[in-house]
Amino acid sequence: NTTAIPVVCVDGPTASGKGTLAAVLAEKLGYHFLDSGSLYRITGLAATRAGIALDVANEQAIVSLLRSLPIHFEGSHIWLANEDVSEAIRTEDAGMNASKVSAFPAVRAALIDLQRGFRKLPGLVADGRDMGTVIFPDAPLKVYLTASAACRAERRYKQLISKGIPTTIDSLRADLEARDARDSSRTVAPLKPAEDAQLLDNSDLTVESSVETVLAWWQGKQPF
Ligand code: DC
Repeated sequence: NTTAIPVVCVDGPTASGKGTLAAVLAEKLGYHFLDSGSLYRITGLAATRAGIALDVANEQAIVSLLRSLPIHFEGSHIWLANEDVSEAIRTEDAGMNASKVSAFPAVRAALIDLQRGFRKLPGLVADGRDMGTVIFPDAPLKVYLTASAACRAERRYKQLISKGIPTTIDSLRADLEARDARDSSRTVAPLKPAEDAQLLDNSDLTVESSVETVLAWWQGKQPF
């Protein structure tokens, strides 16, 4: 009975800092970690490489491809067959392609069991858009993390510039707003807070204080 296994969901829009917060929480709690966005990113990457256009006419072709993909997780690295795709899936293009394939209901359905399979003892921290609404609706703690678009664009800008990738704040902001709009308006599992989610706006918070806040919420849920 997996529902006895604790899950902390961290959902929210693009570049809200979910990934960082969720990874730190998983480490502090000694829990497993699911970066669900990586699954949509790999799907988009594999379809693009196979020359399949990411439009709805190809939904079934993309699902067939996805079902055949040998995806492996190893710590924070993600492998597709014998290629480490951890870096390749992190580009802005890969994020936009992930957003496109994630709007296809059959793609989402094909990933449900794989995601639920991450729920193992002693517990799981799951990062995504629909962790609390669809994948783990019974999770004892659901965090919905937000930050202003200006703040998210600036953080992403600093990350990319520090990696030597040229970009502009304006183009990043336009891209993340386009991604948010698509993720929020799709018919299946749109980006939105679960009814029982606890909202956290981290625009003016350090990573440490966001972590402290969520750990305090988690303490408050014990025993669940
Ligand atoms: O969190 P991320 O930036 O890696 O996610 C990439 C895209 O994947 C995001 O724009 C929408 C989609 N996604 C989703 O639809 N559901 C999830 N649980 C996670 C990501």
